Amino acid sequence: MVLSAGPTRPSFLPGAPRQVISHRPSRKTAASGTSLGAEHLPSALAGVLLARLSCRFVQGRPGASASNASRSKMCRLAAGSTDWQHVREDFPALQQEVKPGIPLVYLDNAATSQKPRAVLEELSRFYGQDNSNVHRGMHTLSMRSTEAFENARKTVAHFVNAPDEHEIIFTRNATEAINLVAKTWAEANIGSGDEIVLTVMEHHSNLVPWQLLAEKTGAKLKFGRLRSNGTLDVEHFESLITEKTKLVSLCHVSNVLGCVNPIKRVAEKMP
Ligand SMILES: Cc1ncc(COP(=O)(O)O)c(C=O)c1O
Repeated sequence: MVLSAGPTRPSFLPGAPRQVISHRPSRKTAASGTSLGAEHLPSALAGVLLARLSCRFVQGRPGASASNASRSKMCRLAAGSTDWQHVREDFPALQQEVKPGIPLVYLDNAATSQKPRAVLEELSRFYGQDNSNVHRGMHTLSMRSTEAFENARKTVAHFVNAPDEHEIIFTRNATEAINLVAKTWAEANIGSGDEIVLTVMEHHSNLVPWQLLAEKTGAKLKFGRLRSNGTLDVEHFESLITEKTKLVSLCHVSNVLGCVNPIKRVAEKMP
């Protein structure tokens, strides 16, 4: 799951459910003519291993055992390929039947994603050869682990088009990531009379933190509604974004409704 803010324009993998947060600067900052930068809000909080990440992570790692075929499949996925059957073959968990003759279909990726072979192999290699404390040791294994950790941060920054890798903060999950933004940047920048725009299709992890913030600060929550076909009423949603809007947060793909929200269009609507 990835949160994004400000001028960052994430280019996501097709079909990967995640949430995007966009914000506008506080009035004070906007008036001074500067924009909020990396020091104010991380542009990405990543809690999942993405297919492209696994592709890059494995490439060039000494002892990495993922096959070239496996890596190139991951890279094609990152490039927007729609050869899903081919992609499915990379996920050992998807090669099973839940009942005789019924292949497993797994849709709960927003909660726990299945891992492609390249990730499983790299995890096994890492725990077998490098596993050590990150940023807390001077010995060989610690240095290798730290390097891998920091390289992953660079890869994620590149993937979400973040201007600076230091904007990437790893968290355990989406709930922790959104609460982190709510408890830090949002508490410091959102006040009484400011507005937060969400949709009615949000998971609790992207609802409760904002409800608590609104209770605490007096900010107002506004909700985008659905069309009768279960997709977001985009025109209505855009009409909710005004000069009072401090933060817009919505999922990119709903794993309940299956719809893909026009994140780019919404981000461009931000005042
Ligand atoms: C659609 C959706 N969004 C967000 C979350 C929260 O994810 P996490 O458990 O990583 O905090 C879940 C978890 O089930 C989910 O299904």
